[in-house]
Amino acid sequence: MLILGIETSCDETAAAVVEELGPAEPWCLRSNVVASQIDIHREWGGVVPELASRQHVRDICGVVERALADAHTPWANVDALAVTQGPGLVGSLLVGVSFAKAAAWALGKPLVAVHHLAGHIESLWLEHRDIPTPTVVLVVSGGHTSLYHVPVAGEYRLLGRTRDDAAGEAYDKVAKLLGLGYPGGPIIDGLAATGRDDAIDLPITRLTHPDRNAPAREYRFDFSFSGLKTAVLRHVRQRQAALGGEVLPPHEIADLCASFQARVVDVLLHRVFAAARWHGARAIGVAGGVSANARLRRDLQSRGAAREVPVFVPSLALTTDNAAMIAAAGLRKLARGELAAADLNAAASLAL
Ligand code: KG4
Ligand code: ZN
Repeated sequence: MLILGIETSCDETAAAVVEELGPAEPWCLRSNVVASQIDIHREWGGVVPELASRQHVRDICGVVERALADAHTPWANVDALAVTQGPGLVGSLLVGVSFAKAAAWALGKPLVAVHHLAGHIESLWLEHRDIPTPTVVLVVSGGHTSLYHVPVAGEYRLLGRTRDDAAGEAYDKVAKLLGLGYPGGPIIDGLAATGRDDAIDLPITRLTHPDRNAPAREYRFDFSFSGLKTAVLRHVRQRQAALGGEVLPPHEIADLCASFQARVVDVLLHRVFAAARWHGARAIGVAGGVSANARLRRDLQSRGAAREVPVFVPSLALTTDNAAMIAAAGLRKLARGELAAADLNAAASLAL
């Protein structure tokens, strides 16, 4: 069984081929192609939706052809297609959804609609086949910070999420206000390695009360990053005033990056391990763009070892947006016979 995955929810045009080989060795990644638009959006300091969707239109055919060529798979050998239906930028999503629907129809093959966050979760199972369940998985990216309980592989129950900025968004905004460039996560990650994480006293937000704006559910494990971002802004303004309007010297920027990163990682891991304890999880997973963070990966390993809980992260290539994870999540739904209807549409805000 060969499935072609397609992902265009934000600023990466991606296609991948994943093969299902049977119970012993379930999933094999045959190809994974990502055309990043970072260079286009960098000069604007963030993703410009209209530019993103136009670039997806230019790239989608070449990216899919490359993924098939890398996998030595002609179109005729594709057994099914999986595409990100949402959440994301609607114009971007529409390019992938339209392409996948047209290709599935032309080939006469089934199409599966995938939730982007289910993809990030399944990136863990794609690479680590024997993750013990129940598992608690944190998806932490530029658009989301959401915690899931996975009672058995392929089932996802939301335990909490950010009430304001996503963690990756906080990284990107802090990098922007420090004039460091886009995307901020990898830049801050690098600078933080040269700074002192106890140099600046920044607040930690740990929400313990239910979200009054979410009447239908009571999330126990919510996050908030906007206060931390504002505290960084205040600190920068104070220091700039003290320096007579000068930009902060490099060692102060490195200290600020290290201090900010330490708070983000601490609050993320504190919540994940608390949720794992609460739900009796036998393993913990962290996925999404921010799971590429060096300190997050290091501290996750050491906390997991100290608490004797196995921890899992994707390889770096599968942390940020890719289509391999969409193909993997597609195989899960395909096995359950959950196929997309011919009138499948992109959904910018899709719940999981
Ligand atoms: O998963 P992703 O590619 O896209 C979304 O679904 O949002 O995540 C992108 C986010 C960006 O905010 C980026 O700054 C962040 O992941 N990121 C990082 C690192 N690499 C990427 N954040 C912290 N440390 C990193 N090394
Ligand atoms: Zn993502």
